[in-house]
Amino acid sequence: MARRSTSGNLAVCAVLLALASVCLGATASQWQSRSIYQVMVDRFARTDLSTSAECTLWEFCNGTWSGLINELDYIQDMGFTAIQISPVVRNIEQDTSVGTAYHGYWMVDMYAINEHFGTAADLLRLSDEVHKRGMYLMVDVVVNNFAAAFNNTVPPPVDFSVFNPFDDAKYFHEYCNVTIWTDPQNYQNCWLYPYGVALADLDTDAPAVVDMMRTWVKGLVANYSIDGIRIDAAKHVDDAFLPAFVDAAGVFALGEVLTGVTEDMCRYQTLGLLTGMPNYLEYYPLNAVFNGHSMEDLNTARVGAQTGCNDTLVLGTFVENHDVPRFAASVSDMALAKNAMTYVMLNDGIPTVYQGQEQHFNGNGTPFNREPLWKSGYNKSAPLYNLTSTLNKLRNTVIALNSSYANSLSDTLFVDVNHLCLRKGPDGSQIVFCINNQSSGGPTYNLSVGGFTQGDSVVEVLTCMVSEADFNGNVTAYMGQGEPKVFVLRDALNKTGLCQTVTPAAPSNPATSPNPNAAAGNLAAIWASTALLATVLSWAVWLFV
Ligand SMILES: *[C@@H]1O[C@H](CO)[C@@H](O)[C@H](O)[C@H]1NC(C)=O
Ligand SMILES: *[C@@H]1O[C@H](CO)[C@@H](O)[C@H](O)[C@H]1NC(C)=O
Ligand SMILES: *[C@@H]1O[C@H](CO)[C@@H](O)[C@H](O)[C@H]1NC(C)=O
Ligand SMILES: *[C@@H]1O[C@H](CO)[C@@H](O)[C@H](O)[C@H]1NC(C)=O
Ligand SMILES: *[C@@H]1O[C@H](CO)[C@@H](O)[C@H](O)[C@H]1NC(C)=O
Ligand SMILES: *[C@@H]1O[C@H](CO)[C@@H](O)[C@H](O)[C@H]1NC(C)=O
Ligand SMILES: *[C@@H]1O[C@H](CO)[C@@H](O)[C@H](O)[C@H]1NC(C)=O
Ligand SMILES: *[C@@H]1O[C@H](CO)[C@@H](O)[C@H](O)[C@H]1NC(C)=O
Ligand SMILES: *[C@@H]1O[C@H](CO)[C@@H](O)[C@H](O)[C@H]1NC(C)=O
Ligand SMILES: *[C@@H]1O[C@H](CO)[C@@H](O)[C@H](O)[C@H]1NC(C)=O
Ligand SMILES: *[C@@H]1O[C@H](CO)[C@@H](O)[C@H](O)[C@H]1NC(C)=O
Ligand SMILES: *[C@@H]1O[C@H](CO)[C@@H](O)[C@H](O)[C@H]1NC(C)=O
Repeated sequence: MARRSTSGNLAVCAVLLALASVCLGATASQWQSRSIYQVMVDRFARTDLSTSAECTLWEFCNGTWSGLINELDYIQDMGFTAIQISPVVRNIEQDTSVGTAYHGYWMVDMYAINEHFGTAADLLRLSDEVHKRGMYLMVDVVVNNFAAAFNNTVPPPVDFSVFNPFDDAKYFHEYCNVTIWTDPQNYQNCWLYPYGVALADLDTDAPAVVDMMRTWVKGLVANYSIDGIRIDAAKHVDDAFLPAFVDAAGVFALGEVLTGVTEDMCRYQTLGLLTGMPNYLEYYPLNAVFNGHSMEDLNTARVGAQTGCNDTLVLGTFVENHDVPRFAASVSDMALAKNAMTYVMLNDGIPTVYQGQEQHFNGNGTPFNREPLWKSGYNKSAPLYNLTSTLNKLRNTVIALNSSYANSLSDTLFVDVNHLCLRKGPDGSQIVFCINNQSSGGPTYNLSVGGFTQGDSVVEVLTCMVSEADFNGNVTAYMGQGEPKVFVLRDALNKTGLCQTVTPAAPSNPATSPNPNAAAGNLAAIWASTALLATVLSWAVWLFV
């Protein structure tokens, strides 16, 4: 299995680590077969794993790297093969009108470790433990700004001398407030978010700044054996800075380019500025289709991204992160959450799940979307934990059978207002799945889907029902209660522990109401989409804390 041989490589690497950097520098093609669990360190696990003390979401909740090490089983048992952690360097200590730097984004010293999260030795141990499990470590890095607390006097009074290594005003752009979100000149050179905390904007087009940043990231990656980086606010730095910085890091990067406009995001790939990015192009429609919109909107965005970008296979698919409201903040239905999770796990690209999504947390904007995970009791029986675990195991299995799965683009088998069915992967290790937006009150009906060869024995992995593909290569999805459906060849499941016992496929509820295509476009749906747009706009202000 690929997983096993990967950890073998890593063990060899551990031996060679002192001698060579050849083991570092996981590439885009290695990352595309991984799946990422995003950890907000302050909110994942405390050192003593205590779950009791209440914490205020604007302040430290005291999660640590040691706590994370102690709960790595929770992540690995869900099948993830990589973790992404909060920035690791020292931040401001003040309690400001917008809270403390529990999230790690308000840096002051790039060469000091954030002691709230632990010691350098703890971080090294985390890296070690993650690698021992055959997983990759991705670290979030801030490159756009340093931070200083202030009391909203403009221009913000900033003592540059306390910053390391950029200890002088000459390394920064002069103060101006970002006001024009459509003008790169403005949003790249002005300062973000001047309330309570000033985000002093680094002059990332200055050669000295580029050099110092390159030196820093190279050292960080080498010192802690980091396999990949996330670049915070990548859209807000000079374009040319990005490839220079990523080249020095020598590892795969996911650069945060927050836009739902195909040309705005894809230009980063087509111009060679960034390889990987969180997939904001599909994020917006992925929410919308469960908030009153037609499923066709998601397929349009998916095909648009495939056409407009050079490589959607290295984008990170997500429906939640620490900057946006939880899925369940607007939609509490569990079946809809399962469909969204299924898309995240099986779409092209790198599945990326933000801690708490698997527990169906429902916090709204920042900081309410940053609930401490321990309030779930790390419950492995939670329905979305189980689903994520199943789908990660399935995906890891088909990739082990044929690594082409991760670098083949999915095809649309069927789409209408309520359904999207995709097929991904080469014959023999293909996955066919259908998501729908009908919710747990959805009707019972049969849906015929293709993607196989006549006579194939096919298992629906969420119900473990087996059937034989008909002369068209189709199988029947017995739809009901709005559940997603996921099909794979029975042979592919050998030795995986998934669906070792199967039952012949049959409708779950013979009392049927065969009407999948309920009419759309009523006033309620239009109202819902307007409300969604308003919500999306109101998040913008919270993105940089
Ligand atoms: C976090 O740790 C600090 C410093 O030890 C302590 O003052 C604070 O009460 C702790 N907060 C919580 C929520 O445990
Ligand atoms: C802001 O004002 C408060 C109250 O006067 C004061 O305690 C705090 O030190 C000030 N913070 C900064 C960064 O100036
Ligand atoms: C910054 O600009 C925004 C508009 O984008 C405005 O609402 C805000 O008051 C300005 N803040 C400062 C401190 O100038
Ligand atoms: C990495 O370690 C070297 C050697 O100890 C040190 O000089 C350098 O500052 C470290 N870099 C970072 C980013 O921690
Ligand atoms: C992206 O694709 C276009 C069109 O095929 C090609 O011209 C361009 O060189 C590619 N860019 C990169 C960075 O691969
Ligand atoms: C599913 O799509 C239909 C048709 O576009 C829409 O009317 C319905 O509101 C959507 N369902 C949900 C839960 O958003
Ligand atoms: C864990 O989740 C399951 C499923 O939702 C629930 O039945 C069970 O009570 C939960 N266990 C705990 C300890 O909360
Ligand atoms: C999901 O839950 C079912 C029912 O409890 C269980 O049989 C199955 O093993 C679980 N799947 C995973 C991957 O944990
Ligand atoms: C993997 O799939 C490719 C088609 O993409 C095929 O050429 C190759 O033979 C397959 N490899 C295995 C081991 O089945
Ligand atoms: C679905 O197919 C089964 C046979 O496979 C049949 O018994 C059932 O009536 C069908 N349901 C509907 C709603 O057509
Ligand atoms: C087979 O499945 C495809 C979708 O994958 C569908 O469009 C087609 O109608 C199905 N064929 C039959 C005979 O139902
Ligand atoms: C799975 O097991 C069956 C029956 O033992 C065997 O024919 C098939 O080759 C196996 N498939 C894989 C992918 O190992």
